[in-house]
Amino acid sequence: MSLWESFQGNTGRTIHKWKHYFPAYERHFARFVNQPITFLEIGVGQGGSLQMWKRYFGPHARIVGIDIQPGCKAFEEDQIEIRIGSQGDPQFLAALVAEFGPFDVILDDGSHRMDDVNASFAFLYPRMGKAGVYMVEDLHTAYDAGHGGGLRREGSFIETCKRLIDELNADWINPAELPGTDFTRNTLSMHFYDSIAVFERGAVGKKFAPMIPPPSS
Ligand SMILES: C[S@@+](CC[C@H](N)C(=O)[O-])C[C@H]1O[C@@H](n2cnc3c(N)ncnc32)[C@H](O)[C@@H]1O
Repeated sequence: MSLWESFQGNTGRTIHKWKHYFPAYERHFARFVNQPITFLEIGVGQGGSLQMWKRYFGPHARIVGIDIQPGCKAFEEDQIEIRIGSQGDPQFLAALVAEFGPFDVILDDGSHRMDDVNASFAFLYPRMGKAGVYMVEDLHTAYDAGHGGGLRREGSFIETCKRLIDELNADWINPAELPGTDFTRNTLSMHFYDSIAVFERGAVGKKFAPMIPPPSS
């Protein structure tokens, strides 16, 4: 069953997702299905999405949710563990990583406030698994003043992403202008969809461009 079918046929707790996100979920999460992974969703809501991720990733997955609402704790069940705290609190996130980390997949569907989205990404992304995937959804909020966003507004997560495009390519930039970073060395790709940013981790190897077969002299 596809993730989309699992969502449409849901009879468990309520799930709240935009329908056009499903192809992106499938594209970036499929390789983790039936693997012994640890998945984190920021923002539990009514608990249905954690149940959907459990169905999708299969019996070996550990599904972790965080939320500021204490009532969300009641949505724990086999394979699903929930901790109460804010995604913007580095101390809480440090305890989370110490208990469950490193995470293989992280999905940010929490407050969608730009300060929170930036804080979670800054803390959690460098502490993920070597081949992890970090997805931030509902990034239309990056253009909304009520969430701390706005077009080209400093501090919006979309502006963070624009800077990270340069970090991804830092090997080709004068180090005096932009030295390579941990992000440069551990990020294979960035992907953008309507309201979604995805970061795929991986150790970046030596870069070279062989000619195969070599040109004859
Ligand atoms: C859009 S709902 C999550 C929906 C759920 N993921 C789903 O797909 O059904 C957002 C959730 O984020 C939680 N939230 C708000 N601020 C937060 C924060 N600072 N840290 C963690 N969770 C937060 C809210 O309490 C709410 O439950």
